[in-house]
Amino acid sequence: MKLQNNMNKDQINLLLQKMTLEEKAGQATQLPTRYFDIKESQLTGTENKLGITENQKWQAGSILGKLDARSMRSLQEENLKRSRLKIPMMFMTDIIHGYQTIFPIPLAMACSFNEELAEKSARTAAKEGSAAGYQVTFSPMVDIVIDPRWGRVIESFGEDKKLNADMGRAMVRGYQGEDLLAPDTLAACVKHFAAYGKVEGGRDYNAADVSEYTLQNQYFPPFKACIDAGAKLVMAAFQAVNGTPATASKWLLQDKLRKELAFMGIVLSDWGAVTELIRHGVAQDEYDAGELALSAGIQIEMATCSVMKNIHKYVELEPGIELLLDQAVEKILTLKAELGLFEDPFRGVDESRERRELRSKEKKYVAWETAIESAVLLENNGVLPLKKETPLILAGPYADSQELLGPWSVDGIIEDTVSIKQGVINKGGKIVQVLPLDFEEISNKDMDKVLMASEKAEIAVLAIGEPQLWSGEAGSRSTIELPKAQCILVQKLYQKGIKVVVLLLNGRPLDLRPIQPYADAILEMWYPGTEGGNAAADLLFGNVNPSGHLAMSFPYGSGQIPVHYNMGATGRPKELLTSEKRYKSQYLDIPNEPLYAFGYGLSYTEFKIELSGEIKKDSDHRYMVPVKVTNTGKVAGKAVVQIYIHKHKSMVARPVKELAAYKKLALQPGEDVCTEIALEKEIWNYWIPNVGWTKESGNYTIMIESDSQHYIHCNLMVD
Ligand code: BGC
Repeated sequence: MKLQNNMNKDQINLLLQKMTLEEKAGQATQLPTRYFDIKESQLTGTENKLGITENQKWQAGSILGKLDARSMRSLQEENLKRSRLKIPMMFMTDIIHGYQTIFPIPLAMACSFNEELAEKSARTAAKEGSAAGYQVTFSPMVDIVIDPRWGRVIESFGEDKKLNADMGRAMVRGYQGEDLLAPDTLAACVKHFAAYGKVEGGRDYNAADVSEYTLQNQYFPPFKACIDAGAKLVMAAFQAVNGTPATASKWLLQDKLRKELAFMGIVLSDWGAVTELIRHGVAQDEYDAGELALSAGIQIEMATCSVMKNIHKYVELEPGIELLLDQAVEKILTLKAELGLFEDPFRGVDESRERRELRSKEKKYVAWETAIESAVLLENNGVLPLKKETPLILAGPYADSQELLGPWSVDGIIEDTVSIKQGVINKGGKIVQVLPLDFEEISNKDMDKVLMASEKAEIAVLAIGEPQLWSGEAGSRSTIELPKAQCILVQKLYQKGIKVVVLLLNGRPLDLRPIQPYADAILEMWYPGTEGGNAAADLLFGNVNPSGHLAMSFPYGSGQIPVHYNMGATGRPKELLTSEKRYKSQYLDIPNEPLYAFGYGLSYTEFKIELSGEIKKDSDHRYMVPVKVTNTGKVAGKAVVQIYIHKHKSMVARPVKELAAYKKLALQPGEDVCTEIALEKEIWNYWIPNVGWTKESGNYTIMIESDSQHYIHCNLMVD
């Protein structure tokens, strides 16, 4: 159903013409809710820090941060009372992996290789978020990450551009729905443009040095996918890219984002990033910073007021700048109209709708489904699935904890969260003893307690991992090791002859070598969200079969960072130069391969994958790969068939392999399915320095895999 838009282009332009310069600069400013003291419903003065007047504060076109239906209504009412032209405010926040019902962190969601599920989670999050009064979410984040030391890796969809593009596109569709006029939608803001995931050394906010070759071939395509899916906003990255902070980069924000990626929506700065141009050393003062940002293409300044404060002077000295501001305001008003705010500034928000929507049963079901499909079985020597009757001990920092929501879940309801202990109980498991432990320090006394308790059990289930604050924004670390005490715990139980099942709860790929030889099974649960405990228990007991595959490689130690499956080809590949001992691309002390590569993930069943015919072109110029997938094991499961390509003779040294397509298929035991997987026509395009985007025709190797270990190789001539 096409809903009726309530303001057309001409009406928006008419409104724009009526606006004063201050009103326009206000629309281009976004302030945090804390300046509006909504709790008391008493609207207080602005902190001096901003250096603006109470009147200027109320010109702000959008607000970000904590809200609920009641405070949204009172803020909007107050705004409309004060706004000369009755322009509604827009409310934005970070709904990253759910609002109050929390889904697995985005890195985990990508491991599901299930776009429909990602879309469903975003749809569900939009229903909750919009009922609480929000209209925009600062999500998805499609920053490719190859360095797991960077704490924001939890927010990304991993190391591959296709997976980032597919997941990002799915989230945009989920948030925005069919039509933004529907009051249960949210406008999506894709972030952070660009190469934020490439910060040097994995240290947050650090500079990024990245060639245009890599930007074009890796970092831009996920943004392009989200833009093409209709994302309404793009957030500029905090950091400098090749010397220029993204917030001040005309090259990035205009030449690339507007002209090449054809983005028509709103570009906003990150939090405080405009005045950070001073510390970056490219702006003298706030005046300078605002002008730089505005001229580069920033259209909403987040959390500072440089433009608001200086607009008169800018326009006086350079009249052309008003045009930039007009363009920004026109886009902002357009989005407000698309959201239906001029017609209903409250967008149907009230407390009864909020009560109905938040934390409902259906939303929890989506949280369970997503947690199930995001988990990745890394090791299993046959110990899993467990029998419910098997007596077990449950130990570790996450054994009896509700801290399973992960970073960026500020509005998540901790009391709703199902702990691992609760999950095991809910699913009928036989727990002999629960032993919660510290992350970093396990005393001898506690260690002995665990060992003694284990004598009464057959299995030790260890819920271990990183504290939540070790990842997320500003959560960079220099190494990716698990805390030593937890590794010793695994080793001691092994030495005692107890079977050990590790449940990992963490926000980044870790170095698992210290536990891998001693664990009978390792199930990576990530931060699984509200239904984490139920999902973990269902997987442990085999009520459902794990089907996640890694969206990011797990390095063989911190010294191997960065390692990713799609490294560029070298003239001296280790695996080909078998008779050469030294002069080849290798480490002398560790393997080249990560411990667990992108795409890897085990199941309780086995799948056989065969190429069942010739690869042929269809009428849409796609190459269709016919595959037959058989579930050769004894339980139902989901296979993820992954197709990678490698170009034989290219104009550049392309990656050794690139993910070109994948399909997730559910199969009963003994069942086989014949299907075709499409290689879309765009995948043959590559960005070549001094040439630009080019179709690379010719010979390709096609690799068909299930968990990056078993593959079929064949050749394909692409014309
Ligand atoms: C983060 C953004 C986020 C913004 C608003 C910043 O610190 O980098 O990703 O959207 O805060 O909360």
